Amino acid sequence: MAKINRLPSDLANQIAAGEVVERPASVVKELVENAIDAGARRVAIHIELGGKKQVRVEDDGEGMEPEDARLAIERHATSKIRRADDLAAILTLGFRGEALPSIASVSHFLLRTRARGRQSGTEIRVNGGAVAGVVEAAASEGTVVEVNDLFYNLPARRKFLKADGAESAQVSRIVTQLALAYPEVGFTLTSAGRTVLQIVAPPTHRARVMALFQLGLGGGGPIGAFIAGSLAALWGLKLAMVLPALAMTVLIGFVLVRSRIWTMRTVERPNF
Ligand SMILES: Nc1ncnc2c1ncn2[C@@H]1O[C@H](COP(=O)(O)OP(=O)(O)O)[C@@H](O)[C@H]1O
Ligand SMILES: [Mg+2]
Repeated sequence: MAKINRLPSDLANQIAAGEVVERPASVVKELVENAIDAGARRVAIHIELGGKKQVRVEDDGEGMEPEDARLAIERHATSKIRRADDLAAILTLGFRGEALPSIASVSHFLLRTRARGRQSGTEIRVNGGAVAGVVEAAASEGTVVEVNDLFYNLPARRKFLKADGAESAQVSRIVTQLALAYPEVGFTLTSAGRTVLQIVAPPTHRARVMALFQLGLGGGGPIGAFIAGSLAALWGLKLAMVLPALAMTVLIGFVLVRSRIWTMRTVERPNF
């Protein structure tokens, strides 16, 4: 008797989700990268309970036509490549066409989008991979994706998630990295009604690094922020260069602190 079955598409998507979606931060990364690929200038990210209850990413990018919105949630559906030749010249962040269907297969998922210049938008709801409704809907230009109750249908994966605070921290870290890598894009991150990050575009690399440092992420204080920002500006910062800038800041900060201790010691122990 034959032993090989074709997997139903829901199950295939859930298996693919195992690679694409590990935790709320990976959902945020995929959705923000899609927004950037769509030419967004502003991306607003909202999370509830560390993203376990909700991740919402809203962008002002090019949006999707109704037919594209329907296709977007299907496996291996992408606007980013058409032929094998395109693989050699990829300029976008995604191209496998797997993120949206994978995420939608492990959540209560909502996509609302309106293409630039269109009168109305499209809203699609998917529950655990099953399309629950596609309707014409009022929407702002751009796209909103809401991912609710991540892994609600895979309790073993849900159990693997950390406490809300730890998941929020991972989301902040991902958004910070994306904000450093895309200085031309404005980002806001809110968590349970509280603004965690707010970075307007288009600042210079220097302004952006300083803003992120001043939020305490670098722990370098205003002097550290200034130095890191200046180094960033000097070196035409790309993400990989943040690390040397950080290392330099820590080093300079350390030297400053040490020299202050030495000065104080000299003052405290005068030489009679
Ligand atoms: N925020 C968005 N704005 C406009 N189009 C989007 C957005 N997110 C997804 N899409 C469209 O849906 C398609 C599928 O997205 P995804 O599943 O992430 O696959 P990929 O990014 O690998 O193409 C994309 O190729 C793009 O055409
Ligand atoms: Mg993608």
